[in-house]
Amino acid sequence: MAILICGGAGYIGSHAVRAMRALGREVLVLDNLQSGHRQALADDVAFVRGDMRDAALLDDLFARHRVDGVLHFAANSLVGESMQLPLKYFGNNVHGMQVLLEAMIRHGVGRIVFSSSAAVYGEPESVPIEEDAPLRPGNPYGESKRIMESMMRWTAEAHGLRYVSLRYFNVGGAAADGSIGEDHRPESHLIPLILQVALGKRPHITIFGDDYATPDGTCIRDYVGIDDLVAAHVLALRHLENGGESGMFNLGSEKGFSVREMVETARRVTGHVLPVVMGARRAGDPARLVASSQRARATLGWQPRQGVEEIIASAWRWHRAHPDGFDA
Ligand code: UFG
Repeated sequence: MAILICGGAGYIGSHAVRAMRALGREVLVLDNLQSGHRQALADDVAFVRGDMRDAALLDDLFARHRVDGVLHFAANSLVGESMQLPLKYFGNNVHGMQVLLEAMIRHGVGRIVFSSSAAVYGEPESVPIEEDAPLRPGNPYGESKRIMESMMRWTAEAHGLRYVSLRYFNVGGAAADGSIGEDHRPESHLIPLILQVALGKRPHITIFGDDYATPDGTCIRDYVGIDDLVAAHVLALRHLENGGESGMFNLGSEKGFSVREMVETARRVTGHVLPVVMGARRAGDPARLVASSQRARATLGWQPRQGVEEIIASAWRWHRAHPDGFDA
């Protein structure tokens, strides 16, 4: 039986494809390559270029392959863009989920592991954030993920499908062998931007605000390594395959690092000076996001191991080896 991996050519999806194959699982990747890269997948991966909102395509895939579970990574994920183009996010993310769930029901596919986000919480009242904290997303991206979670919850109740929704905090790093990594265009994430400074591709890193109510004034985030994150997907799928109940789980290291601390760590890892320029706050940035991952630890047996040094070091290996990212 195969696992359908939607968005499997993207940053996180491509690392999940590798992990699944390393475990001997048969995978089928669906990706429209809007932001993913064919090169992020080995040549012999079963790959279909297409859009998840194409119900006829999904029918064809489910009819031709014996699929018994779905890993769903396919979504637009830029907070800033979502503020400018909210309907793009509802159209692609929310409608995409509807088409996928409908196809899963038609074809009797009963398990899905979904990439959700800390963005569903918005500005938290307190940290660490637990899963039953209020959901008050502060942008259309987070709102789309909140709605997609609800769609799975109600579909589960009506049709018996089971799901795990994984609420990622800040994901970073690259495959340990440096073969695949993070390549967003345009790039907006902190770690790759800092490393582009180390590569000499940018003159400095701009810190978005140093007047937050945090010890050094810059935003605090909880960074989780890509290997740890992907391990959680493997555990989540196993949980569902063993008859485990549906649920939402935070994925974070439970430790917060400020933007300044991340730059400092990158200086140590790369040996570069990394000039910093202070900039204005970025709209919609919460001051502090730190996960409680107790539920994932207790229920899924997840144990994140990668610290920020290791995360940045693995990303650095990838960026040094591929200064211009993927070719395709
Ligand atoms: N930052 C800078 N300068 C930059 C880029 C980022 O100071 O050039 C800061 C941001 O203000 C933030 C931190 O670095 O405080 C991390 O920013 P990222 O853009 O790397 O990540 P975010 O925390 O904004 O976003 C992540 C995920 C989103 C998700 C969000 C949840 O990438 O998908 O967490 O709030 F929605």
